[in-house]
Formats: sequence, structure tokens, C-alpha cells
Amino acid sequence: MTQEIRKRATLTIEGEDAIDLPVYSSNLGPDVIDVGKLTSQGYFTYDPGFVSTAACDSAITYIDGDAGTLLHRGYPIEQLAEQSDYLELCNLLLNGELPVPEDQQAFVHTIKRHTMVNEQIRNFFSGFRADAHPMAIMCSAVGALSSFYHDSLDIDNPEHRKITAHRLIAKMPTLAAMSYKHSQGQPFIYPRNELGYAENFLHMMFATPCEDYHVSPTLARAMDRIFLLHADHEQNASTSTVRLAGSTGANPFASIAAGIAALWGPSHGGANEAVLDMLDEIGSVDNIPEFIARAKDKNDPFRIMGFGHRVYKNYDPRAKVMEQTCAEVLEELGINDDPALAIAKELERIAREDEYFIEKRLYPNVDFYSGIILKAIGIPVEMFTVIFATGRTPGWIAHWCEMIADGYKIGRPRQLYTGAPKRDYVPLAER
Ligand code: CMC
Repeated sequence: MTQEIRKRATLTIEGEDAIDLPVYSSNLGPDVIDVGKLTSQGYFTYDPGFVSTAACDSAITYIDGDAGTLLHRGYPIEQLAEQSDYLELCNLLLNGELPVPEDQQAFVHTIKRHTMVNEQIRNFFSGFRADAHPMAIMCSAVGALSSFYHDSLDIDNPEHRKITAHRLIAKMPTLAAMSYKHSQGQPFIYPRNELGYAENFLHMMFATPCEDYHVSPTLARAMDRIFLLHADHEQNASTSTVRLAGSTGANPFASIAAGIAALWGPSHGGANEAVLDMLDEIGSVDNIPEFIARAKDKNDPFRIMGFGHRVYKNYDPRAKVMEQTCAEVLEELGINDDPALAIAKELERIAREDEYFIEKRLYPNVDFYSGIILKAIGIPVEMFTVIFATGRTPGWIAHWCEMIADGYKIGRPRQLYTGAPKRDYVPLAER
């Protein structure tokens, strides 16, 4: 994308001529200094963890971490959570504008027509042990989808990209539910296309061939909201992984499988599973001070899971909506005394008054309350990150499509080399 240069920056390095660098303005948020030509001057920039690096242009999602703002295509997440639904947000992320009713109907219809997976995919599952982590299954199954769609893998063809986006959004819940059924030793349940997206997912998770599962509208709405709150989060680790894998020209299924792998870690999507494990480990409200002390101890690797964020230095707006959804779900289910919720609330209260958390600007993030909702719905802890992956799919695919459509270079970071200088090989017998 060609950028309009509004300002220039000058970099002065001792004893050398000043280097002139263009500065581009963003529509919202910090301007960026184009350091691309530093290589020709004999320098690289150094930014481990990409803390200050804008790796691409993007028009999909904007986050203001200080204000706690999250916008998708300009629309605040709170308004989308309140007034929209997951499939409308998928359409918005992919296509850039809120759809008119006929377009949304057509989009929903298309997604519903793609929910089944090829029967051959069932055979993969028999290769996994019953206790395989469902994220291991998801990485493999999504990557394997590329072996079924040779007819639509031309990444330069916009129509192929569109079909792939629809297939991925439609099939993720089916694969997710299959990974759960496999762990239970239960038969897979086919999708039912008269059901809504989240409703259908819960049906595939909890129905059996001998018993239907009645999906409560409150739980379906909560599930839909969980998917919606995870749908995109600009250039996070998994999305950047999808872009990096995709920048080699790898097919979209392989690129998304790479994103699923990146999401799995406890610093990213694995945190929702880690929150519940942590609440279990804390065990009682009385033990919270001990865990707060551990989180503050520099010699102890323990962290309060579901707290802190690379970008948000304020309350994560998704966490606020999640907390409210949590209250609705527990009320619908008549759960008044969930011990995990009691510990979470007290942990949040104490942490928000504690000097350490205030000074480091550590607030609850999206994962802090989502696990409590998922557990109340009956979803086992190992499935939590799979739910995150399912919700994040439209974000990954929207970023992949944007990158391919806008034109891209292969992602190839450089390094600050800290190894041995050039030296001669010494034959084994002479060492
Ligand atoms: N508990 C205790 N201390 C913390 C925590 C925490 N959860 N998070 C950060 N800190 C401290 C950290 O020890 C460091 O202290 P110091 O400056 O004294 O070394 C300081 O705060 C900055 O932390 P950092 O690790 O340099 O910050 P980061 O931006 O690299 O990491 C993070 C962000 C999300 C990985 C981190 O906050 C964390 O590990 N949180 C727990 C895991 C978690 O909840 N992850 C989900 C993120 S939201 C969902 C998603 O987008 O995937």
C-alpha cells in the first residue's frame, strides 16, 4: 500500500550523516516511522517481542490500550456485543461494512451450507489417542483440510479466498465438537443447519445419537458472545503467525493451522484454560493473599492468569462484557455459589487495590471470566482454547485475505547476532 508521507524523522548516529526517515500517519493511534531503508545504511532495528513494531498496514481492528478501546471496522466491541451477533461480525470483518439484511441472510445461508466436513476426516480422528489434547487435534485437522480443496487453493483468486473463508468459519465448530466427542469416546454428531451458529456448536458437543440436547437460548447467546468477543484482536501473536506463514504463499488452511499452534500457549489463548487451573489451585478465598504474594515475587514464575495484556494498560473491554455474560449465565443456570467465581471476584478486587498491579497497570483480560462461563455451560477445560480458536477464525482469515489482496512481501525478520565470530573447522582427531 502506498503511504502518504506527512512528517519526516531524522536518526543521528554518532559520527555519521543523519538518516532521513519518512513518517506515516495512522487514522487512529500512533504514527509509524518507516525504517525500511536502514538496512541499506548498515543498520537493523532491534525490538524483541515487536513491542514498538508495526509489521503491516491494516484496516480491520483498532485497539487503544490506554483507553481500553477495541473497534472492529470502527465499531466499538461493546455495541457489537450488545446489538450484533457473531456471524454478522464475521461478515463485517471479512467485508469491511455492516451488511444489509439480504447480504447477511445470504452469508448465514452460505456458512450453514458448509458446516459438514468430508467423511474422510473422521478417519484422522481414529489416529489420535483418546486423551489427546483437542488443540493438538485442531492443529492437525485444520492443516489437513488443505488436502481436500485442491479446486480452490489459488490464493491469488479472490473467489477462492472467499470460499476458503466461508469453509473455515463453517467447519471450525464441527471440528472442535469432533475433537471433544473423540475424547469422550462418543460418536460424532452431524451439524443441524436449522440451528444458529453457537446453538449448532452446543448441539454437536452435547447431543448423542440416543438423546437430543435442548440448547437453552441464554446459553446459546452466551456462547455466541464468547465467539464474538474473541473474533479479532489486530496483530496479536497468532494473527501475526498466520500473516507470517501466509507471506510465504502457504495455503490458508496451513497458515491458520500455524495460527492455532501459536494460540495454544498459556501467554495467549491457552490462558483461559490456565485461569481455571489457577482458580482450582487457589482453592479458597482465604488462600488468595498467598498467591498474590507469589505473583509479586520476582523469584517465583507464578503469574495471575487472565491478568495483564501487552496492549491494554486499562480494563480489557472484552473482560467487562464477559463478566456481565458470566452473571447472566450463572443466573440462568441457578448457580449462586460457584466457588471459582467467588475466588475470581475476590482476586480481582484485591489485585485492583494492590500497588504492584496498579503500578504495572495489570487488569483482567478477556480470559479472566470466559472460563467460568464455559465451565458453567458444561464445556471441559481442555476445550477452552479450542473455543478461542473457533472464535478467532474470522479474524485470522480476514487478516490473511487483507494481506494477500493488498500485496505483501515474505516476512523475514533480521537479528542481532551474538554467536561466535568466523573461525576455522578443526578436524575431530585434532580437537
Ligand atoms: N501476574 C503478575 N505479574 C504480571 C502479570 C501477571 N498476570 N502480567 C505481567 N506481569 C508483570 C511482569 O512480571 C512484569 O514485571 P517486571 O516489569 O517487574 O518484570 C510486568 O508485569 C510486565 O510484564 P511483561 O511480561 O513484560 O508484559 P508483556 O506485555 O510481555 O506480557 C502477557 C503480556 C499477557 C503475556 C502477561 O501479562 C501475562 O503473562 N499474563 C498472564 C497470561 C494471560 O492472561 N494471557 C492472556 C492474554 S489476553 C488473551 C490473548 O490475547 O491471548
